[in-house]
Amino acid sequence: MNADYVQLADKYGCPFYIYEESAIRTQLERLRRALPDFRVLYSVKTNPHAPILRFMALNGVGADAASAGEVERAAAAGMPAEQILYSAPGKGGEQLRRALGRCRVTADSYTELTRLDELAGRFAVAAGVAAMRNDKLPVGLRINPDFSFGAGEFAAAAPGLSSKFGVDEESLAEKKEFFQGLKHIRPAGVHVFLRSQVLNAEALAASFAAVFKIAARCREELGWGLDFINFGGGLGIGSALERAEAGRELDLELLGRLAAELVRQYERRLPGVKLFLESGRFLVGRAGTFVTRIEDIKESRGKIHVIAPGGLSGFLRPAMLNLLAGLPGQTPGPLEPLFSGFDKHRVGLLKTGPGSTGSTGSSGPLKKVTVSGTLCTSLDVLAGEVELPDPQAGDILTVSEAGAYAATLSPFAFASFDRPAELYRAADGRISAE
Ligand SMILES: Cc1ncc(COP(=O)(O)O)c(C=O)c1O
Repeated sequence: MNADYVQLADKYGCPFYIYEESAIRTQLERLRRALPDFRVLYSVKTNPHAPILRFMALNGVGADAASAGEVERAAAAGMPAEQILYSAPGKGGEQLRRALGRCRVTADSYTELTRLDELAGRFAVAAGVAAMRNDKLPVGLRINPDFSFGAGEFAAAAPGLSSKFGVDEESLAEKKEFFQGLKHIRPAGVHVFLRSQVLNAEALAASFAAVFKIAARCREELGWGLDFINFGGGLGIGSALERAEAGRELDLELLGRLAAELVRQYERRLPGVKLFLESGRFLVGRAGTFVTRIEDIKESRGKIHVIAPGGLSGFLRPAMLNLLAGLPGQTPGPLEPLFSGFDKHRVGLLKTGPGSTGSTGSSGPLKKVTVSGTLCTSLDVLAGEVELPDPQAGDILTVSEAGAYAATLSPFAFASFDRPAELYRAADGRISAE
């Protein structure tokens, strides 16, 4: 939390998001240090803010794109086509036409492979697709493996599940002739993604091992000229409130050691194959803060209500926590990207009264309050019960972990409020608003 958020609030109005480049760089460096054999892809859906994409491009990070629009954003940020991997279910002809030649496409079904084959025949040569070898466009295939992470955040391998994503692993063998019959494309990549917010390094490494096995089978039994494997990722982050607890943070070094062993084990069987990891929240989740200003405080029948613009519609995820906490019965499991667990967001206060501008207000008497937004619904609650040091109208509220699935997932248009500004602080301290 930075004291200058008060000045930024005066300048840009509230609410706004701010993303800190130094925090993104720290995470990227940690990831690369721990997993040096893997090329990092940034999952654009997590936060498509242009300066973040440009930072990734400048630092050699590619894109995990989930729509033609994301392919276009990644390309506009300066990422080369071979580092943009486009994978999504139900890619129609229009999406594929927009993307061809600007990325590596990963098909999500046999229907899509047939569609791509036809499109590649008609358009790829004309579009000058540089990556074509033997006149065939290399494409990936998303595979639904015969394992899953099972229930719960820390669970290890369990049987494969039915899924709308990819093709079932067991269907591959009987499709050998189908693959050989493709005229204008050739399967050249394997993509598996099963779960976000995984905090168990051993479970992640076990999934990498299974993906290596699938890839080796594709090469050896199906005869694919394999160019790349996209292991997905799913790297989780413990929130600010959880980091102190053992087991609530991914052991990246352990994952790195286990992954390095696998890389060595498969080096000979998969020569020259590029290894990709895709990550969203791990890279940017903590780098963002949502900032708003207290406009009103009222006491109603024994409860203190702090009211600040940008609740449910400004930052949906914290509002979801409160909604789910109120449901009777069991605590829900992860519901990504809407909900990862309780206690994910820390609410802070910056005082703005005379002589106190920007102080974190730790000295005031703590008051238990409910922080609500300004929408016409009582579901519009940013923090159900939080203790704040003597909050006053005009003070600034900050909400942590606002870099991932935050601005991009929030229904700003509701009730015709203005869209919150998104600010970016570059390494040299300069702030941009785009
Ligand atoms: C295919 C795919 N890759 C990567 C991600 C990013 O996940 P995370 O933000 O947990 O890293 C997602 C998230 O939904 C995804 O669907």
